Formats: sequence, C-alpha cells, structure tokens
Amino acid sequence: MNDPGFTPTQLAARAAYLLRGNDLGTMTSAAPRLYPHMWSWDAAFVAVGLAPLSVERAVIELDTLLSAQWRNGMIPHIVFANGVDGYFPGPARWQCRELAANAPAGPDTSGITQPPVHAIALQRILDHSRRHGRSTRAVAEEFLDRRWPDLVRWHRWLAHARDPKEDGRITLYHGWESGMDNSPRWDRAYAQVVPGDLPAYQREDTSIVTDASQRPTDIEYDRYLWLLEEMRRARYDDYALASSMSFAVQDVFVSAIFALACEVLAIIGEDYSMPNADVRELHGWADRFRQGVVATTNERSGAAKDYDVRNQRWIPTETLAMFAPLLCGGLPRDTERNLVRIFEGPRFCGHPDLRYALPPSTSPVSSAFRPKEYWRGPVWPVMSWLFSWAFSRRGWTERAQSLRAEGLRQASDGSFAEYYEPFTGKPLGSMQQSWTAASVLDWLG
Ligand code: SER
Repeated sequence: MNDPGFTPTQLAARAAYLLRGNDLGTMTSAAPRLYPHMWSWDAAFVAVGLAPLSVERAVIELDTLLSAQWRNGMIPHIVFANGVDGYFPGPARWQCRELAANAPAGPDTSGITQPPVHAIALQRILDHSRRHGRSTRAVAEEFLDRRWPDLVRWHRWLAHARDPKEDGRITLYHGWESGMDNSPRWDRAYAQVVPGDLPAYQREDTSIVTDASQRPTDIEYDRYLWLLEEMRRARYDDYALASSMSFAVQDVFVSAIFALACEVLAIIGEDYSMPNADVRELHGWADRFRQGVVATTNERSGAAKDYDVRNQRWIPTETLAMFAPLLCGGLPRDTERNLVRIFEGPRFCGHPDLRYALPPSTSPVSSAFRPKEYWRGPVWPVMSWLFSWAFSRRGWTERAQSLRAEGLRQASDGSFAEYYEPFTGKPLGSMQQSWTAASVLDWLG
C-alpha cells in the first residue's frame, strides 16, 4: 500500500523539531498537553532519540531523571516539571515529599516506578558519542563515571525490593508501573481492587483526549486512584507495600526488560572498566531474571505469562507480554522459533487486516481486543522500536529491518501519535508524543 506521507528526511527534521518543541530546558515533556512532565521510561526513550541530535542534550535528559532518584534507589515514574499544572494526579495528590522517607529533597515526583529501559539509552548515548570528537566523548564518559553507582543502585533496588524471594520476576503494585496501564493483563488483578473512601478527584486526561474511548474508563481510574491511597497509607515504604497493597503482580515483560538492561549495563561496565563487583552482580541479575521469565513460558509455544501474587494465579494473555522471552532470550531454539512464528503470524504482525505489519498491544483475535483503547489493542510505535532494537541486538537483522520499515511507514503521517488504530492506521491518543519522535530518529539515525 502506498503512503504518500513525509519522506525520511522530512520526517527526521519534524521529529527533531518536535523534541525541541517539547523541551522544557533540562527535561522533555512526554507529550505537550496530555503528559506535560517527565516520565521515567519516556525519558529513556527520548534520550535514545536525542543521542543522534546531541549527545550532550541526551545526557542532560538522563541526568535530570537521575536527580530525582529516591534514596532507596527507585527511579520514580514521574518527575514533575516545576510550576506546570494540567496533569492529574499531580504532586499534591501523591504527597511523596510529606509522606515518603525515601523521596528526594529535589524535584517533586510520583511514588511508583516504571520499566527499567535506561541502560538501553545509556548504550545508545555511548554509541553515538564514539562517532564524535574527544569533547563529546568526554561528556558521555564523565556522565557514565558519575552516574554508574546510581544506575547500579537502581538495578539493585529492583532486584531486592521488587523480587525479595528471588523468583527472577519484578513485582508491581500499580498497573501504571508496567507502563501498560489498562492492558487486559491486569483485568483480573484489578477486579480485586475495591475502592474504599476515595477522596474526590477530577480527571484531566479526558479533557485533552476528548474521545474517551481511547483512554482508560472511569471505573479503571477509580482503581488507579485507590491504589494511590493505599500507597499513601503505607507511606510508600517498600516493606509495607509488599503486604498491604491490594494489587500485586509479577510482570513478565518488565522482568525481561530488566534482564536485558542488566546485561546491557554489565557489558558497558566491562567496556568502560567499571568495578568488577558491580559487573558480576549485574550479570547475576541478568541470569536470574532471564530464568524467571523462561520459567513462566508455555513449553510448546514459548508464550510467557504474568503472575497475580494476590490471587496466586498465572495470567496468560494474548498481549505483547507473551513475547517477553524474545527480548531477553533463554528459550530452547525450537520453542523460540514457535514464539517468533506467533509474533509474525496472523495473531499479531501478520493479521490479514492490519494496516502495517507491526505488533498490536493486544492480539486482534483476542476477546479482550479493543482497537482504539490505549493498551487494549492499538499499535504503540515505541513498542515496535523496542522489539526492533532487541531483535537487531539478537542478530535477527531481517526481522529488525522489517519492524523498522513498517514503523517508518506508519510514522510517515507525521502525527507522531502515542498509538495507532491497527486496521485503519488512524493516529490516536496524544499527538506529538516525544517517544514516538525519538523512535523515528533512532530508526533514521
Ligand atoms: N500512563 C499514565 C497516564 O495516562 C500514567 O503513567 O496518565
């Protein structure tokens, strides 16, 4: 099919212009109106997109994020921009500074975390820095030296506080921590979240994305906000959360990202002569979490599942989560081949009605599939980018190229949408989403 959109050169220029427009100085807003602050995994992907434009600016992005790191090592999911309103729940609702002993003295933050994709950004920054002269390389390397202990502390917090029994899987206490807020993966776990005395609130998101069917429902929002109440009552204490939260799941996709990120960071550590003890620890976590992911998989198909800790039930779903082992590896060869076949076949990228051969967030053949509804079906460009990056890293060049080519075809409409309707290719959610522009910039870099 022909897509008379922007040419690659025009698209790259527009993506760069977009990131410049969303730049607040030392942080890039995730999207101009819907997400006017810095989000943790958005910031990492944004740094991937900034790296080919300016290594120096990409470093600042990660530096800003790490300046908001909690004392226990957690990187919070939102760093609030000073004096910017228009997002709910904002700092006044989270009240981290007042309630959490571990909250930083610096910027206001939320009290939960997000997927640990930051090592990927660091790797891209170092890759780009090596193409430059000595002064740019020095900026990247000074950043690595200075922030290495913080990055290791971040990974250590995930491995300890979020996997205390060493299952090799990260536990989440809020669906927002998965980044895939309303994915069908969490439906049954959320069914057990019964909002009690919930202080009144007003959503902001649905006045920006005015087609409410593209966003989570009000019932879902009540649960999101109720979990926030539970966290406030536990004063965001790692140990208290483990027993008090009514939502607790082991996220297999985040666990695979973590395994991968530990490996990436360990290799950076080796290349740049960071302390051996750190590198060993990182390799150890990479192994533990890879095994933790593989332990969830179906013997024949290789499909991975999440685990509902509260209800003590596995959660098999036809969503992106089932492909977690393709990110971190570890499956026997035949099983992996079967899982790749599902990824490329008619249940996902090869569905005959898809506009582009890209993985929808939920399989179109699943009964939970909703083509417009946030993480229940739409194609998310940044996920296409993540799979293309991981596939290329695994040596699957053709598969990575095909995601890149299709991802660029989808992006050639120039909207840089947050997500797209899989059949029509209609842009949905927020327009001018920073991480969509960043994905395009890396693909074209
Ligand atoms: N993704 C959430 C939102 O839509 C928060 O992380 O606001």
